[in-house]
Amino acid sequence: MKIIKVKNKQDGGEIAYKLIREAHESGATVFGLATGSTPETLYSVLRKSDLDFSDKIAINLDEYIGLAGDHPQSYKTFMKEHLFNDKPFKETFIPDGLAEEESEVKHYNTVIESNPIDVQILGIGTNAHIGFNEPGTPFDTQTHKVALTDATIEANKHNFDSENDVPRFAYSMGIKSIMSAKKIILLAYGENKAEAVANTVSGPVTEDVPSSILQKHPDVVLILDEAAASQL
Ligand code: F6R
Repeated sequence: MKIIKVKNKQDGGEIAYKLIREAHESGATVFGLATGSTPETLYSVLRKSDLDFSDKIAINLDEYIGLAGDHPQSYKTFMKEHLFNDKPFKETFIPDGLAEEESEVKHYNTVIESNPIDVQILGIGTNAHIGFNEPGTPFDTQTHKVALTDATIEANKHNFDSENDVPRFAYSMGIKSIMSAKKIILLAYGENKAEAVANTVSGPVTEDVPSSILQKHPDVVLILDEAAASQL
């Protein structure tokens, strides 16, 4: 794993952008994307850049079950507002939160298999989830329906009017699919990510710490601010 320490989230976004740009220049065509507060600065740099994604494909990690794509808190809306409205891609894929489980899982796995991911952007949960693969998720999982943990509901409730409004389930790309990406860039900022980051880098590789599997990937870059790196 390569670790890049940055001063703050703004610098982290700039560094991540440079890595994306390099991949773009080397011919990457499929970009795996994340939502949440962590990649916001990266998307802001991307939006203002001259990089052209009009012949590229974006595949997002996850979506809340029960929210329509045009719901203000859906990840589809997030991606439109933070990136796609300003930076159009040839095709974008995000799980359909209203679709029936069996067909959506099959569909999303086909999407990922037909479009092997060149670069995958990841954030990390305080419980070390990647995508919405919560602790205990088998490492060989592909797209699946996830019951969000209390920690994740708690961490995400600020985006909703109340905790009761946070969906309890999501569709998520699985760990096996994430690991199949050629390059992985994980971003983490803030003290509350420090323990998860330390366990990712030097803890045992265990399904109790989903991100620990990244130790087995040949090309992972971690971009961390000082607080997130403070337990390394
Ligand atoms: C989002 C995702 C999650 C987040 C993680 C961190 O698509 O898959 O794993 O990356 O929950 O969220 P933030 O960035 O809001 O701290």
